[in-house]
Amino acid sequence: MFSGGATNLFKAAAKNASKSTPSSLLFKASVATAIGSGIGLYYLEKNTAHANMEAEGLHPPHYKFPHTTLFGTFDHASIRRGFQVFKEVCAACHNLDHIHWRNLIDVAFTEDEVKALAAEYEYQDGPDDNGEMFLRPGKPSDRFPKAYPNEEAARAANGGAFPPDLSLITKARHGGADYVYSLLTGYCDPPPGVEIREGLNYNPYFPGGAIAMPQNIFDGVVEFEDGTPATASQIAKDVVTFLSWASEPELDDRKKIGVKALLLFSTLTALSLWIKRNRFSSLKNRKLVFNPAGNWNKPPVVPKKK
Ligand code: HEC
Repeated sequence: MFSGGATNLFKAAAKNASKSTPSSLLFKASVATAIGSGIGLYYLEKNTAHANMEAEGLHPPHYKFPHTTLFGTFDHASIRRGFQVFKEVCAACHNLDHIHWRNLIDVAFTEDEVKALAAEYEYQDGPDDNGEMFLRPGKPSDRFPKAYPNEEAARAANGGAFPPDLSLITKARHGGADYVYSLLTGYCDPPPGVEIREGLNYNPYFPGGAIAMPQNIFDGVVEFEDGTPATASQIAKDVVTFLSWASEPELDDRKKIGVKALLLFSTLTALSLWIKRNRFSSLKNRKLVFNPAGNWNKPPVVPKKK
């Protein structure tokens, strides 16, 4: 089928490919360097011992929160307990600006429960017909109440440090949920030789080691309504699960859509491979017979099967 010229071209190309020109050597060398340095950097990153570890904070271990696994979703009972911890402990100092009461409906509470929870707080509203502002009970459409009216008040109450908004904290910190969990449970005495300023506390996971937030999670600091033993680690795990939900409320849906997409696209891929085989079978089984010009009147020479 191919003319002689085309065959020669192929031969030439094959000959060229087997030759190592300087530019192809350079290319091979750069690919090898890129792969080598990639592997090197990966292992450097994995090695957690740094000279300036104190400045960076201790690297948190990896905890197996269900939602951090590949197909895992949130533990909703834990979100519910975590909300209780947030409300009873953290909300004294931290805001949760991006969360409205209604966001909790069907996640950890029923609509009626959320209405009752919101109504426990008073919100300023108005002006009314007389131009006066007034207080009314909270509604599901309200945001979670602020701990302090403004940043200055928050700093004044915390020795100059500002308790950050916790709505996105597990996304905002390196290590995410693992970091926040380690921070909450990691308070300990400073090692010999380390001086901690008055009003600060030692926590090896906090960059610099000295954090203005005091330890506030202890065994039994809350009492869970579902009877879960309120150990410090349980409380920390639950509040971290709640904060992870606050940062990524779409996680459950995202993973559900992901699984659906995987199922759909793998079925479609299998189907298209099967159709391809079907369509190609006539091409692949076809026998092409070359009848040289000038012999049109002769019957085609069909090669015998070997
Ligand atoms: C007494 C007030 C107070 C309470 C209660 C409190 N915090 Fe804090 N928190 C602070 C302050 C102040 C800071 C800022 C620390 C700093 O910058 O040194 C902070 C910082 C943090 C940080 C950020 C650390 C970082 O990497 O910057 C996280 C996370 C945090 N708190 C979580 C919590 C959680 C979860 C709770 C509830 C279990 C809680 N806090 C309760 C005062 C508080």
